[in-house]
Amino acid sequence: MSALQFPPGFRWGTATSSFQIEGAAELRGDSIWDEFCRVPGAIADGSDGRIAVDHYHRYAEDVALMSSLGMDTYRFSVSWPRVLRPDGSADPAGMGFYDALVDALCAAGVRPWLTLYHWDLPAWLPGGWTNRATADAFADYALRMHAVLGDRVRVWTTLNEPWCASFLSYAGGQHAPGHTDAAEAFSATHHLLLGHGLAVRALREVDPGATLGLTLNFTPAYPAGHDDPADADVVRRVDGTAHRIFTDAVFRGAYPADVIADAGAAWPSDLVRDGDLELIATPIDVLGVNYYTSQLLRAGEPSGQPSPHPTAPDAVVVDRPWLDRTDMGWEVTPDAFRDLLIGLHRDYTGPAGIPLAITENGCAIDDPDPASGPIDDQQRIDYLRGHLRAVHEAIAAGAAIDTYLVWSLIDNFEWAFGYTKRFGLVAVDGELNRLPKASAGWYAELIRTGTLCLPEQV
Ligand code: FCB
Repeated sequence: MSALQFPPGFRWGTATSSFQIEGAAELRGDSIWDEFCRVPGAIADGSDGRIAVDHYHRYAEDVALMSSLGMDTYRFSVSWPRVLRPDGSADPAGMGFYDALVDALCAAGVRPWLTLYHWDLPAWLPGGWTNRATADAFADYALRMHAVLGDRVRVWTTLNEPWCASFLSYAGGQHAPGHTDAAEAFSATHHLLLGHGLAVRALREVDPGATLGLTLNFTPAYPAGHDDPADADVVRRVDGTAHRIFTDAVFRGAYPADVIADAGAAWPSDLVRDGDLELIATPIDVLGVNYYTSQLLRAGEPSGQPSPHPTAPDAVVVDRPWLDRTDMGWEVTPDAFRDLLIGLHRDYTGPAGIPLAITENGCAIDDPDPASGPIDDQQRIDYLRGHLRAVHEAIAAGAAIDTYLVWSLIDNFEWAFGYTKRFGLVAVDGELNRLPKASAGWYAELIRTGTLCLPEQV
């Protein structure tokens, strides 16, 4: 048994998002995810977010749960179509909900960490993220939220995983709005990043002391054939649209030349205007990292199916049968997480003098039905242990990392998988009662002591 001590002041918590937990859809406008859920076959179990886990009505209970588990930080997102109406006016009930949630968190001693955009775009914005005007609307929405919550919310994330909101949504078709057009995906990418830059600039102006950032998802890719130039090239192309297009724009003020060259005619020639990249590169205070898995890739034949990697339709995932997998089918690769964190610190956040925060990490496990008794999710505990060891190793190697948030507090609506995948530390039964799993108790003890106990090498 070894014990790893996390640095004093390290912050612990959990993350959720509005569409995945809130429900109360009849009290807000439609988002693109409400529309997507109505498309036959789009969601694995045919479900939607109308009720979700009813957090809208049960938030006080959920905050009490967080506090009983000793959570220091709670990352949640705001549903844009709940707080603003199509005519641009604020919805007082929607604003009031977040006002009350933030008050409850502060009263319970839980630090609120607000994400402005976790994919539930108002359905009424014409063209969604393919329209440049959506970037301006986003910055306006950011300021409106800040006017209501800025006195208590001190950490603001603009976007969650813009890769999913652009490439997976506009090229791969797996997420709302379900389009399969590479040019739309590049245009969505740019407008998301522009919205981010505009929002950071606007928030900085009204609140210089706030902590501002964005969250990116990283799935490190490795070539299957070590010396195979074709495999190396497929990895370069996937890495280009999955990661570098975002990190290079935000930290270096430039889109990678190889990505634009690979995109060819799919890169809209009039997309980037003078000054856009300066805005996108407005300094931030923290980079959020969401990490779940890594991938081995080889160059193969394009499947003919829409790909979320428009410049790498020939990318083929190579299974590593010796690795454990989660219920998503994702391989468990904590060492890749450590290497990712060290690399991000070396190449991007270190030179910028800012920390990394793990804004999501966790796993789906096919937990038993909560009706059959308390859930003993050792597999989730093992996953979290292994990944926290990786975080600890990255810190020991010099990476500045100050926060770790588990995805997720509670089982919820897992996008195109509906309710078939469970990521929570807390289960919900048919009556939506909250039932903490063994992992919740394990995490509470870790937070209390700041010490990660490893029974053996995990
Ligand atoms: C991330 C999302 C989050 C959740 C997890 C499993 O990509 O940000 O909402 O779905 O994956």
